[in-house]
Amino acid sequence: MKIAIGSDHGGFNLKNTVMEHLKAKGYEFKDFGTYSADSCDYPDVAIEVAENVASGEYDRGILICGTGIGIGIAANKVKGIRAALCHDTFSAHASREHNNANILTMGERIIGAGLALEIVDTWLNAEFEGGRHERRVNKISAYEGEAHE
Ligand code: RB5
Repeated sequence: MKIAIGSDHGGFNLKNTVMEHLKAKGYEFKDFGTYSADSCDYPDVAIEVAENVASGEYDRGILICGTGIGIGIAANKVKGIRAALCHDTFSAHASREHNNANILTMGERIIGAGLALEIVDTWLNAEFEGGRHERRVNKISAYEGEAHE
């Protein structure tokens, strides 16, 4: 599984912690920035990571900002992206099982590193259940595929 990871300055420290964890677990991943704690704009990183996941270049994405909200809103503007904000392990596995989320977002200012790493592990190990959930996800994709004002 190839993972694209990114953050703004608000998620920079937690991104580093998550990357150390992914490395220790042997995951293949690429850091799309930001590369310092200097202030930057979360849409820049969100859209780059999201495009790399939507294109199939990467299987999953992890995006972190201060709250996980802005970076998720931006990622969800990219066609084919289902970014889920998860600050508990139930949401983490449900977002995979029911929603086939392909990007996990978290907020460094909201949760501690210990919980964040449990959420990452849960999310990476959970699989989409398909069935009735596939019908629902397909309706989102169908809407996305049409032209809307
Ligand atoms: C940056 O200050 C902060 O607004 C950003 O990290 C994020 O929380 C936005 O949703």
